[in-house]
Parts: sequence; C-alpha cells; structure tokens
Amino acid sequence: MGRADILTDGYGRRIDYLRISITDRCNLRCGYCMPEDIPLVPAEEILTFEEIEAVCTAAAELGIRKFKITGGEPLVRRGCPKLIGRLNKIPGVKQVTLTTNGILLGKYLDELVFHGLRSVNVSLDTLKPEVYREITGSDGLSLVLENIGRAVDAGLQVKINSVLQKKVNDGEWEALLGLAKDQKIDVRFIEMMPIGYGKKCEAVKGSGLQAKLREKYPLMERETQARGNGPAVYYRIPGFSGSVGFISAVHGQFCDSCNRIRMTAKGELKPCLSYGDSVDIRAAGVTADRIKEAIKEAVRRKPGGHCFAHRDGITEDRQMVQIGG
Ligand code: 5AD
Ligand code: SF4
Repeated sequence: MGRADILTDGYGRRIDYLRISITDRCNLRCGYCMPEDIPLVPAEEILTFEEIEAVCTAAAELGIRKFKITGGEPLVRRGCPKLIGRLNKIPGVKQVTLTTNGILLGKYLDELVFHGLRSVNVSLDTLKPEVYREITGSDGLSLVLENIGRAVDAGLQVKINSVLQKKVNDGEWEALLGLAKDQKIDVRFIEMMPIGYGKKCEAVKGSGLQAKLREKYPLMERETQARGNGPAVYYRIPGFSGSVGFISAVHGQFCDSCNRIRMTAKGELKPCLSYGDSVDIRAAGVTADRIKEAIKEAVRRKPGGHCFAHRDGITEDRQMVQIGG
C-alpha cells in the first residue's frame, strides 16, 4: 500500500499530472488536429465546470498536483479563466496551466492573470502568414504574435509548441527558434504523433533537428534543471533568453518518466495517448469516492509505453482535438 496522497502506476511511475480537455470545439482548423468533418460532442455530454472541479478535487486528494487545461481550444469555452481560478484554490494543487492557440489569449489575458495563471503554452507552427493560413485555415498569425508578446509582458512564462512537418514548415525551425532569442520564451519542437490525421503527415524527427541545431549552435548545452510538467528535454543556447525544448514523442523513449493521465471533454480518463482505452468518469456517478475509483483505475491501466513505432498497435482512433494533445 502506498501513501494515500501518492498515485503510483504498475510500473512504479508517480502520476501527479492531469491534462483536462474542457471542450472539443476550436476556432482554428489545423488539418492534423481537427479535420473538417469531425462530429462534435453534444453540449449536454460535455462535463460541467462543477463536474470538472469535483474531479480535480478528488484528483488532488489522490496526489495529482498539476493540471493542464486543454481543448480543442480551451478559451472558446466561456468561463475558462474562472475555472482556472477555482482549480488553483483546491488544496494541494501546485500549478494550473493552459495550452492555447493564442487567438483569444489577448482578450482573456487580464482575467487569466487575475485567476492565478502563471504559465501558458501557445501552439504555433509557423511565422509566415500564408503558411499559417494553410495550416490553420485562418489569418490570425499577427494577432497570435501580438498576444504572445502581451503574455510575456504580463509576466507569464510562455512556451511555444511547434510541430514541424516536411515540406510545410520544416524550413522554419530557425525562425521559430528566433522567438527565444530576445524574449524569455521557450520554444519546443514536438514530433508529430501518429494519432488521428497526424498518421498521414510526414513528421520531422527530433533527433535530426537537434543535430542541425547543434551544428548551428555548437555551444548549446543540456539544461539540467527540470522545467515544465513533462517529457521535454531542454537546451540553452548562449545569447538566447529562452531555451529550446525537444518533445520527441515518437522516436524518443520518454514513457519511462510518464507522469500523466488525460481527461476528455466528456469525462473519459485516458491512461495513455496511444490507446483507445478509457475509464468513464460519469459512468458510476460523479461522487468523490467514485471519481477516485475511476482515477485509480485509469492509473492502474496505464501501459508501460506507447507503440508509435509499430503503428498497428495504436488503438486510439480519436482525433487530437478530441483528446487535447
Ligand atoms: N502530434 C503532435 N502534436 C499534435 N498536436 C495536435 N496533433 C498532434 C499530433 N498528431 C498539437 C498541436 C498543439 C497541441 C494542442 O497538440 O500542434 O500544439
Ligand atoms: Fe505516457 Fe503513454 Fe504518453 Fe508514453 S505515450 S508518455 S506512456 S501517455
């Protein structure tokens, strides 16, 4: 028997991080994440904020310390900043952070800061307006860049998440990295995972990219201090204010230090990104005890790792927009 406030899975990994998708709606249409034809979850099936708060309270009592609010695009759901404020007040919670595409970040910035947000991840794959339009279906690039600047000025820790695709934006790694030059922004390159439409994309390997960076910046040094919640490996480049991170989700073996479970907008707890398996939080009724049982069950069912190397093993058939990344 472990301590009541520490959750450990069958592989001895401590699970202290829950990613919560609060909506499957998005105001952008990135082809690899949210293809056009995808059916939306009916509004009545989406967890209410009260239910999410109940899940987080139970999770905190079990030893979850960090929550990430994701989507779809979390800021399209009204009341998102207030939810963050409520989760921040739960005893035991160390950090509540947000992943956004940045379009609405400026609009809600003051409210988010007021409700205790300290750190935000902004998804941005390109700095070219025409490529941004091609990837996202929108002309919002300049707004996103403006909002990133405002978030930094407001004192938030800002991390940029970039997914590189061959022949789409792989030539832009240097320009994207430029965001970390003069501002304290971390730029992270995430390998495209074979989930949903990501299966059809030509991913750029993190290791190859790292080699290119090292050639250009030979003095790049591995950062020893842990930052953020998870599997990114960070490097410092002399003269840069921010760091560069690699999330080699497919080719790097990072499952050994997996610390997380996920919850979809309709309350499915996912033990692992690459499998369809989930535990329905609502099935047994949303009382504190039943929620705790569901969370423990999801942790028990965590596999040792993903199977992105042999794609036949992937049983997750949802799109990323339905999972939250
Ligand atoms: N592989 C890796 N990252 C993905 N995202 C969406 N789909 C994939 C995928 N298949 C990322 C988006 C965004 C975050 C929410 O998830 O680029 O940064
Ligand atoms: Fe954890 Fe599964 Fe992600 Fe590996 S792929 S880090 S086991 S959730």
